[in-house]
Amino acid sequence: MLCIFLGEATQGPPSRGPWVASSQEFLAMTEEACRLRCLEAVGAGSCPERSALPFALEIAPGVRHFPEYLDRGEQAALLEQLREIWRGAPLFTPRMPRTGKPFSVRMTNCGPLGWVSDIDGYRYQANHPETRRPWPPFPPRVLAAWAELALGSPPPEACLVNVYGGSARMGLHQDRDEDEFSAPVVSLSLGDEAVFRIGGTTRDSPTRSFRLRSGDAMSLGGPARLAFHGVDRIVAGTSTLLPEGGRINLTLRRVTKP
Ligand code: SIN
Ligand code: MN
Repeated sequence: MLCIFLGEATQGPPSRGPWVASSQEFLAMTEEACRLRCLEAVGAGSCPERSALPFALEIAPGVRHFPEYLDRGEQAALLEQLREIWRGAPLFTPRMPRTGKPFSVRMTNCGPLGWVSDIDGYRYQANHPETRRPWPPFPPRVLAAWAELALGSPPPEACLVNVYGGSARMGLHQDRDEDEFSAPVVSLSLGDEAVFRIGGTTRDSPTRSFRLRSGDAMSLGGPARLAFHGVDRIVAGTSTLLPEGGRINLTLRRVTKP
């Protein structure tokens, strides 16, 4: 995979961080041209090998897609850790505020805070809604993903784990239950592909969709931190990672002001 940084260099070189090109720029750029742009942007000695950096496509301002961010070994290891997590913090079915209608995804959380939804509303809390126990700690690879993809942000406080069966989906929504919006939302996908839909910061803005595959990461930050997004559908049979099929998505967030 290739990796290009064009955006943040004017603020000073990142030591190791996501380098981003718009998809148009990326497709048009040869390896040599990329190297030259890098040298131009951050100077000799600060321009690491592209293979050492997460590669990103900037789908729209602030919407970054990191295809193949986790390799297959990392995906399998993370899956094992997630299975351990939901032995201690069992998957539950969230419900819509007021109506109590069940979501089609099941979820759990890890980290100090967890996002829950029930008849009383959406909120973060420190305990599992059924067992009342604290959420399990973050897996180290998840923290490493945050350090790389949310470069410079305060540490994450919540990791929502969404488990999608073949017919599960998620309607368009904003992630806005946090007190802090300066850090991006970072997500990791495992298992079957999702048709992910992203729009603007109002419900009626135009949307586009792209596929999130097993091992892909994504971040919504800056102008896209409050962008409407959702999952149209899961494409069955597109990954062999989960023997039972379906998809798992981890969403990492900073919740409180640092
Ligand atoms: C979410 O927005 O909570 C999940 C998005 C996804 O499953 O990719
Ligand atoms: Mn969301």
